[in-house]
Formats: sequence, structure tokens, C-alpha cells
Amino acid sequence: MSIFEIDPDIRKAKTLSSAFYTDPDLFELSKEKIFSRTWHFLGRADEVETLMPATILPDMLDEPVLVVKTSEWFSCLSNVCTHRGKILVEKPCDATLIRCGYHGRRFLLDGRCISMPEFDGVEGFPSDTDDLKQLPFSARAGFMFAAIDPADPFEVFVDDVGERMGDADIHGLVRGDSREYEVGAHWALYCENYLEGFHIPYVHHGLNAVVDYGTYTTDTFRYSSLQTGYDADGKVAAKYLFIFPNMMFNFYPWGLSVNIVRPVSPTRTKVEYISYIRDEDLLDEGAGADLDTVEMEDEAVVESVQRGIRSRFYTHGRYSPTREQGTHHFHRLIAEFMK
Ligand code: FES
Ligand SMILES: [Fe+2]
Repeated sequence: MSIFEIDPDIRKAKTLSSAFYTDPDLFELSKEKIFSRTWHFLGRADEVETLMPATILPDMLDEPVLVVKTSEWFSCLSNVCTHRGKILVEKPCDATLIRCGYHGRRFLLDGRCISMPEFDGVEGFPSDTDDLKQLPFSARAGFMFAAIDPADPFEVFVDDVGERMGDADIHGLVRGDSREYEVGAHWALYCENYLEGFHIPYVHHGLNAVVDYGTYTTDTFRYSSLQTGYDADGKVAAKYLFIFPNMMFNFYPWGLSVNIVRPVSPTRTKVEYISYIRDEDLLDEGAGADLDTVEMEDEAVVESVQRGIRSRFYTHGRYSPTREQGTHHFHRLIAEFMK
């Protein structure tokens, strides 16, 4: 039996094999099987002038792309010159065409190659292969996403959950700070810890005081899951939206924290926190306060698991049917993509 079989019945299922986290070949394979087939966060659409260079999943895919915004369209192109491979646009700018800074090849904003100095007599030039490749791209709720070869359109990745979130959660947000954390653990261990509130009473004593663990809920969708924490009065304290495989959208009373999990190696992961604030006065209240402490508590436990799963005596665990639906759903998606 493949290690990528996770029983759909959570009561019968075993957790993902420890080999997934420890085998460097599977880490390599996950680049193509998971990360090249899913969507990646590129930031806010209103931060783009005409041309904005970006990178799809730095450290892992490291794919240089160019977001292009004109009055008529919004798209994402490869940012690599089709002549000898120089990065075309290094800094955000306004422009009406793209000219390579190495030997002067020129492209229209839609990616079409139009001219090149000293290329007279080159057979079949320019042809389609000289144009810049257009990547799957989506701008939704003010955020931009791109993919290499997605398993499904972006709408399918978020649609079922999008309806539940409501527009009110996303409007009126102003860019705040961003921070980067480095965790000594496999990226999936970091994600699966995020996907359950089961550990809150044991690991997060401060957070446990503001989230009523008994009423915490998890809903799963095709490629996403939504956890909702309530306070003692039954009001929503936080909503945690996860989009497979590595995007976290955390809605707090003060606004939104977007956390992007970036695999570096089988034992190292970077996590970028980008905050979008609606109400600064609420920054120190409830489940959205002191996120740094919560992050440190999570990192400590995830790094401990990183050591533990290497043990000769550990290969699988089992799931709590009431508290680990999000983790089970995540493992099922990993299994589906890795097969
Ligand atoms: S690499 Fe761009 S023109 Fe030569
Ligand atoms: Fe946690």
C-alpha cells in the first residue's frame, strides 16, 4: 500500500506516514506534485503600478514573474527574457513596453516579442517561443494569486469558502507591518499544527483565555478549510481560513493577518506574516493580540514534533474525529497530490 493512502473515514484513518516529512526525495517531489499545481499569494492588487516584479513561492519554486496592470487588463507574465534569460523588470515601474536591459529585446505589455537588435536574418524570428509566457493569474477580493500549472482554477480553490467569508471581512484593510519567522521544521508540520485548535488549551495558555475551546468549529471544503473560534459571549473571536497547501488568512477583530508558509528544506520553513489593518484600536484585543507569543509557542511544539517524527518508533498516528478534521483533510490533499 502506498504511503499516500489516507482513509476518508477519519475514525479509521491513520495520519500521514513520517516518511513524507523526513525523506528528502519526497520533499523534492512535492515541488512538482504539490506546489507547481496550486495557487500562490502575490500581494495586494492596489500596490501594483503598471509593472510589478514578483516571485512565485520564494525559496522553493522561486519563479520570477511580472504582474502587469493596464487600464484594460491585469495579468501575470514570466519575467525572464526569452533571449538568454536575464530578469526583465527588476523594480516596480510604469512603462508602455518591456525592454531587456541585457541586449535590448523588446516586448509588448501582453508579452509579445516585437523586436531585437542584430537579429536580422535569424530564421523564424520572432515566433511564439520568443513571447513571454502568460501564467494562470487571479485577482480576487483585492489580492493577487498566480500558479504554474494549477490542478484547478483559483475559483475552485476558494469558491466554496468565499461565500461564507462575506465581503465585509476584506474591505477597508490598510497594509500594516510584515514579519518573517524561521522554523526548524518541515512545512507540513507547521501547517497541520495550524489546522487544529485541539492544542490550544495545552500550548497557548493566553489564547485559551479568550477562545472558548468547547465551541471551536472546523469546516472543510474542496481545497480549503475554515476554523472559527468564539469568545465566552459566543461572538466570533477569530476566523482562520487555510487554502491548500500553504496560505493562511486569519481574520481578527483588528483586521487580517495573511501568513504564507514557505518551504526551504525538509527541516526548514519560513513563515511570512503580512498584516492588513482595519481598526488599530483593536490590535491588542482578543484572539488577534500578541500573535508573536502564539507563534513562538507553535514553533516550539512544531520543532519538537520535527525531532519526534524521526524516531524509529514512530510512523503514524490516529486522528481525533471531533478535533482534527482540518488535519485529516490536509493529509488527504497531500496524499491526493503526491500519488
Ligand atoms: S537576455 Fe534579454 S536581450 Fe539578451
Ligand atoms: Fe497554535
